[in-house]
Amino acid sequence: MILIIWRKLQRVNVIKLGGSVITDKANYRKVNQALLRNLCEVISSNKEKKILIHGAGSFGHILALKFGLDKPGPIKGREAEIARVISDVLTLDSEIVDELNAKGVKAISVPPHVIYNSNKPDFKPVQSLLRKGFVPVLYGDIILFNGKYRIISGDEIALDLSRKFRPESVVFLTDVDGLYDRDPKKNKNAKLIPSIKSKMISVVDTDTDATGSMAGKMERIKKMVAYSRRVVVLNGKKPERLGRYFRGMETISTVIT
Ligand code: ADP
Ligand code: IPE
Repeated sequence: MILIIWRKLQRVNVIKLGGSVITDKANYRKVNQALLRNLCEVISSNKEKKILIHGAGSFGHILALKFGLDKPGPIKGREAEIARVISDVLTLDSEIVDELNAKGVKAISVPPHVIYNSNKPDFKPVQSLLRKGFVPVLYGDIILFNGKYRIISGDEIALDLSRKFRPESVVFLTDVDGLYDRDPKKNKNAKLIPSIKSKMISVVDTDTDATGSMAGKMERIKKMVAYSRRVVVLNGKKPERLGRYFRGMETISTVIT
C-alpha cells in the first residue's frame, strides 16, 4: 500500500522539446525565440511533476557533423572539437532554462555529460531535484567515458529516464504533426497516423542529422512503451496543441501504445 502511494506521488511526465522546434536546424546557433517563449508559457501552465529534455538543434548537429563527431571514437586528439560542441549545447540549454524560469517553471539543468560517466547513467541528481520540487532539464549532449566520446540524443535520454522513472507519459514535440506513413516534408501525400501500436512501427532509416532524426526517435519509442503508459508525438510549432494535451482535450498528434 505504502509502495503504491509512493509510486503515485513519484509519477512524472517527460517532455522532449525537439531541436527542430526550438532552433532553426539549418542556421548555426539560431533559437526560435518567440516559439520558445510560447512553449515555456504553456509548459508553465502544467503543474504536474515533470522532467524536461531538449534537443541540440543547430547548436549541436551542424558542428557535430562538420567535425565528424556523429561516429563515436577515442577522445584523444578531439578534445577541442568535443568541448566546442558541449559548450554550444550548454549555451542553448541556459537560454531555455532561463526562459522557463522567466515563465515560472522551476527549471534546473542537469548536464548529461556529468551524469553519464559509466556504463549506466547516474540519475540521482535528477531524482533529488524532483523530490525538492524542481524541474530537471536534460539535453542532447556529448558524453565521455572509458577514453571515448559519444553523442547522446535527447530521445535516448528519454528512454533511459523512462526505464528509471516509469513516467505517466512521454511527449515528443517536433516540427511536424506527429508520425506519418512517410516523411511529410518529402511526400505531399504522407498521412498522419493518429494512433499506432509500437509493434506496428517499422523503422526505415531517415538519417539526416547526427542522431538519426525520426528513425532514431522511433527506435527509442518502440522500447519506451514498455515503461511509460503513453508516448505522444505532437507538433511543438503549435504550442496550443500541447496546452490542449495538458488539459486532456483532443488534439492532432500520434499516440503510441
Ligand atoms: P526533433 O529535432 O524534433 O527531435 P528530428 O528533426 O530528428 O526531430 O525529426 C523530425 C523530422 O523527421 C521531421 O521534420 C520530418 O521531416 C522527419 N520525418 C522523417 N520520417 C518521418 C515520418 N515517418 N513521420 C514524421 N516525420 C518524419
Ligand atoms: C543531439 O541531440 C545532440 C548533439 C548533436 C550534440 P538530439 O538528437 O536530441 O537533438 P535534436 O532534437 O535532433 O535537435
